[in-house]
Amino acid sequence: MQKVILLTGSTDGIGLEVAKRLVDEGHHVLLHGRNPQKLEAVKRELSGRGRMEAFVADLSSLAEVKTLAEAVKAATPHLDVLINNAGVYKVPNPTTEQGLDVRFVVNTLAPYYLTQLLVDQMTAASRVVNVSSAAQASVDLDALQGRTALSDHAAYAQSKLALTMWSRSMGQQPHSGGPLTVAVNPGSMLASKMVKQAFGVSGASLEIGAAILTRAALEPGFLKSSGLYFDNDSGRFAQPHPDALDAALCAQVLESIEALVKDDADRRRS
Ligand SMILES: NC(=O)c1ccc[n+]([C@@H]2O[C@H](COP(=O)([O-])OP(=O)(O)OC[C@H]3O[C@@H](n4cnc5c(N)ncnc54)[C@H](OP(=O)(O)O)[C@@H]3O)[C@@H](O)[C@H]2O)c1
Repeated sequence: MQKVILLTGSTDGIGLEVAKRLVDEGHHVLLHGRNPQKLEAVKRELSGRGRMEAFVADLSSLAEVKTLAEAVKAATPHLDVLINNAGVYKVPNPTTEQGLDVRFVVNTLAPYYLTQLLVDQMTAASRVVNVSSAAQASVDLDALQGRTALSDHAAYAQSKLALTMWSRSMGQQPHSGGPLTVAVNPGSMLASKMVKQAFGVSGASLEIGAAILTRAALEPGFLKSSGLYFDNDSGRFAQPHPDALDAALCAQVLESIEALVKDDADRRRS
């Protein structure tokens, strides 16, 4: 059955491979990218292969996340799947205009906010697939709130654990009638530009990541996965970092995420 699927970060790496698979399988794919030229090129490449629309938003800006959600709502009354795939490891200037680390904004806050803004477009049969990582490290709340600077790896690993923590909290207590929420490590050291820039290695086939994200989005095998973490390095549901199993720590991180998102929205309104 054709599904309506929003895929963030469709312009490169694993996301681009997922986009090709989903379009070729006949789904209605809402492509997303931050770079209009790159996004247009992907749309051109896939044109004639299936139904798709394209949305531009820089997810390091929560204002743009809001605009993206509004554009998606205007384009479709219903969303079957949201794949929060866009992510970032290394950038020349890691601090956003709001003084936050861009890894926390793009990898943790933006997917959280986008999910919240689109939750009414989803039903209990919908899915949110959060693209996590094997790189997970305890979240320093001061760093999440922009008060402490981190190395690239620490910021990335903390942002991915924070994503996994909110995914678990939300997935275990789904909004009534809301979507299942699962976190997935797509596989480590897959051959994307992120991996080349971060580790200087070419990496393994992107198809490994594309295949598992497509399964998480569509397969019945993931129907009971809400709140869980799938580790594609071992090929099974697995324990995430121990902090993600600690309900009190998850609540603390979620509270900080919600406060940051609310502060940003309040600042925009004033
Ligand atoms: N590759 C791996 O081995 C691996 C392992 C574990 C987890 N992951 C995760 O898999 C996901 C995909 O990463 P990848 O390896 O495929 O890397 P990638 O090739 O660099 O792709 C990242 C995607 O996110 C987009 N993106 C980055 N910053 C953005 C921003 N500020 N606003 C909007 N979009 C933005 C990129 O857009 P542009 O095309 O404009 O750059 C691109 O489409 C990420 O969440 C990553 O953390 C990857």
